[in-house]
Amino acid sequence: MSKSVIAVVGSAMMDLTAYADTLPEAGQTLLGQLFTTGFGGKGANQAVIAAHCGADVHFIGKLGRDLFGDSIAANFSTVGINTDSLERGENPTGVAHIWVDGHGENRIIIIPGANHDIEISQAKKAIQSIPDLSVVIAQCEIKQDVTLAAFTAAKARGCTTILNPAPFEAVSDELLSVTDWLIPNETEFKALTQTDAHDEKNLVSFRVGKCSIVTLGSQGAVLISAKGELTRVSAPPVKAVDTTGAGDAFVGTFAFGLASGMSEENAMALGIKVASFSVTRKGAQSSYPSQAEIKTLS
Ligand code: RIB
Repeated sequence: MSKSVIAVVGSAMMDLTAYADTLPEAGQTLLGQLFTTGFGGKGANQAVIAAHCGADVHFIGKLGRDLFGDSIAANFSTVGINTDSLERGENPTGVAHIWVDGHGENRIIIIPGANHDIEISQAKKAIQSIPDLSVVIAQCEIKQDVTLAAFTAAKARGCTTILNPAPFEAVSDELLSVTDWLIPNETEFKALTQTDAHDEKNLVSFRVGKCSIVTLGSQGAVLISAKGELTRVSAPPVKAVDTTGAGDAFVGTFAFGLASGMSEENAMALGIKVASFSVTRKGAQSSYPSQAEIKTLS
């Protein structure tokens, strides 16, 4: 069977995470329980889970010439991700400062660093040259004009494009026109539409003519067809210890599902199982199921 070929044009970060039952208010100092350093960045997370699922993944991005950059590059090799289009730049590797509270909820500040130096020509050339490419994914931790160039090149060769508008920023009409699947979470949906994703009429009228999925955390996700039909899939009940990277786990798994010929509904259902599994462990990529574990979920 031929492999499902996916390209991620996106961010890679080192996640510096503090775990504390209660997070401090402004001016307050509190005792935490744990500090970890782990591989993150929304683009890298989505690439890694797609690779765990069995896809042939190409990562298009930029790291600094520093120790974080060296270890992220080494991690991509360990996972088996193609890094022919991963460059090094003058700015430092991106980092994310993360606080996780006793309910597993997080607050994140990202410092994009080298991620903001990915060049339009780099992204375009990569998308045009990857053999048998079928799905291209992007997020909003890199410059939007780079994503636009990558998606335009992807559509020119007949690929499916998936945009995860996270962290939220206004997305240009030009980028939306070359985006097949838009996958916001409920907060991003609200920012995009100024309406509530829990009211069905807002979902039905979202992006008529194009497909979307709105992820709803512990309530699963809803697929909105181009005609405005809704398909809901609920999430299995789990005890969440850290929700960091769960949305990325969903997006990368869904992309794998589409690239490997699953129905949209089955790809979404697998994405929800993988994302739900990920919240039961700490960290972003460190929480993701292995290929063997994914087989037990599907
Ligand atoms: O979506 C989770 C990710 O957001 C973290 O890994 C962090 O790096 C930030 O980019």
